[in-house]
Amino acid sequence: MNAHNLATEAAWVLVGSIDDIPRQGSRRVHMDETRIAVFRTVDDRIFALEDKCPHKNGPLSAGIVHDGCVTCPLHNWVISLETGQAQGADDGRTRTFPVRIEGRDIYLDLTGKSAAR
Ligand code: FES
Repeated sequence: MNAHNLATEAAWVLVGSIDDIPRQGSRRVHMDETRIAVFRTVDDRIFALEDKCPHKNGPLSAGIVHDGCVTCPLHNWVISLETGQAQGADDGRTRTFPVRIEGRDIYLDLTGKSAAR
Protein backbone atom coordinates (compact mmCIF):
# COMPACT_ATOMS: atom_id res chain seq x y z
CA MET A 1 0.00 0.00 0.00
CA ASN A 2 1.43 3.37 -0.92
CA ALA A 3 1.06 6.71 0.84
CA HIS A 4 -1.73 7.79 -1.51
CA ASN A 5 -3.84 4.79 -0.55
CA LEU A 6 -3.22 5.38 3.13
CA ALA A 7 -4.31 8.99 2.83
CA THR A 8 -7.55 8.11 1.10
CA GLU A 9 -8.41 4.94 2.97
CA ALA A 10 -11.80 5.10 4.60
CA ALA A 11 -13.82 2.71 6.70
CA TRP A 12 -17.23 2.92 5.00
CA VAL A 13 -19.94 1.12 6.91
CA LEU A 14 -23.45 0.49 5.60
CA VAL A 15 -25.92 1.84 8.17
CA GLY A 16 -29.21 1.59 6.28
CA SER A 17 -31.31 3.12 3.55
CA ILE A 18 -32.48 6.70 3.00
CA ASP A 19 -35.98 5.21 3.08
CA ASP A 20 -35.46 4.21 6.73
CA ILE A 21 -35.39 7.88 7.74
CA PRO A 22 -38.37 10.23 7.36
CA ARG A 23 -37.70 13.65 5.83
CA GLN A 24 -36.66 16.08 8.58
CA GLY A 25 -36.14 13.09 10.82
CA SER A 26 -33.28 10.97 12.05
CA ARG A 27 -32.27 7.47 12.91
CA ARG A 28 -29.84 6.48 15.59
CA VAL A 29 -27.12 3.90 14.98
CA HIS A 30 -24.66 2.47 17.46
CA MET A 31 -21.06 1.81 16.53
CA ASP A 32 -19.42 0.17 19.52
CA GLU A 33 -19.89 2.72 22.30
CA THR A 34 -20.48 5.63 19.91
CA ARG A 35 -24.05 6.77 19.27
CA ILE A 36 -24.49 8.37 15.84
CA ALA A 37 -27.53 10.30 14.63
CA VAL A 38 -28.15 10.09 10.88
CA PHE A 39 -30.35 12.94 9.64
CA ARG A 40 -32.38 13.39 6.46
CA THR A 41 -33.26 16.93 5.43
CA VAL A 42 -36.41 18.00 3.65
CA ASP A 43 -34.44 17.98 0.36
CA ASP A 44 -33.03 14.47 0.98
CA ARG A 45 -29.52 15.41 2.07
CA ILE A 46 -28.04 13.01 4.63
CA PHE A 47 -25.76 14.02 7.51
CA ALA A 48 -24.26 12.10 10.40
CA LEU A 49 -23.34 13.57 13.78
CA GLU A 50 -22.40 12.01 17.06
CA ASP A 51 -25.67 11.89 18.99
CA LYS A 52 -24.35 14.24 21.66
CA CYS A 53 -25.13 17.92 21.92
CA PRO A 54 -22.01 20.01 22.66
CA HIS A 55 -23.91 21.74 25.46
CA LYS A 56 -24.82 18.93 27.90
CA ASN A 57 -24.79 15.82 25.69
CA GLY A 58 -28.49 16.04 24.76
CA PRO A 59 -29.75 13.50 22.17
CA LEU A 60 -29.61 15.39 18.89
CA SER A 61 -31.41 12.48 17.20
CA ALA A 62 -34.54 13.61 19.09
CA GLY A 63 -34.20 17.19 17.86
CA ILE A 64 -36.02 19.18 15.19
CA VAL A 65 -34.36 19.28 11.74
CA HIS A 66 -34.63 22.59 9.88
CA ASP A 67 -32.56 24.78 7.55
CA GLY A 68 -29.55 22.44 7.51
CA CYS A 69 -29.47 22.37 11.31
CA VAL A 70 -30.89 20.40 14.22
CA THR A 71 -32.31 22.03 17.34
CA CYS A 72 -31.43 20.12 20.49
CA PRO A 73 -34.53 18.97 22.40
CA LEU A 74 -33.09 19.85 25.82
CA HIS A 75 -32.19 23.56 25.73
CA ASN A 76 -32.73 24.52 22.08
CA TRP A 77 -29.16 24.97 20.95
CA VAL A 78 -29.01 24.92 17.14
CA ILE A 79 -26.31 22.70 15.63
CA SER A 80 -25.19 22.75 11.98
CA LEU A 81 -25.68 19.34 10.36
CA GLU A 82 -22.78 20.03 8.02
CA THR A 83 -20.12 21.15 10.50
CA GLY A 84 -21.49 20.11 13.91
CA GLN A 85 -20.88 23.68 15.06
CA ALA A 86 -23.26 25.39 17.47
CA GLN A 87 -24.91 28.38 15.84
CA GLY A 88 -25.46 31.91 17.09
CA ALA A 89 -23.95 32.92 20.41
CA ASP A 90 -23.49 29.35 21.60
CA ASP A 91 -20.08 27.76 21.36
CA GLY A 92 -19.24 24.11 20.90
CA ARG A 93 -19.00 21.46 18.27
CA THR A 94 -20.35 17.97 17.78
CA ARG A 95 -18.35 15.40 15.87
CA THR A 96 -19.43 14.78 12.26
CA PHE A 97 -18.98 11.69 10.10
CA PRO A 98 -18.54 11.69 6.30
CA VAL A 99 -21.54 10.25 4.43
CA ARG A 100 -21.61 8.44 1.09
CA ILE A 101 -24.81 7.49 -0.72
CA GLU A 102 -24.92 4.56 -3.14
CA GLY A 103 -28.36 4.22 -4.69
CA ARG A 104 -30.54 4.48 -1.58
CA ASP A 105 -27.91 3.02 0.77
CA ILE A 106 -26.18 5.19 3.38
CA TYR A 107 -22.55 4.57 4.25
CA LEU A 108 -20.64 6.36 7.00
CA ASP A 109 -16.88 6.73 7.14
CA LEU A 110 -15.92 5.69 10.64
CA THR A 111 -12.19 6.25 10.11
CA GLY A 112 -10.70 7.46 13.35
CA LYS A 113 -13.83 6.58 15.28
CA SER A 114 -11.75 5.21 18.13
CA ALA A 115 -10.11 8.62 18.47
CA ALA A 116 -13.45 10.08 19.58
CA ARG A 117 -13.32 12.07 22.79
S1 FES B 1 -27.98 19.63 25.94
FE1 FES B 1 -28.43 20.38 23.97
S2 FES B 1 -28.97 22.40 24.29
FE2 FES B 1 -28.48 21.69 26.25
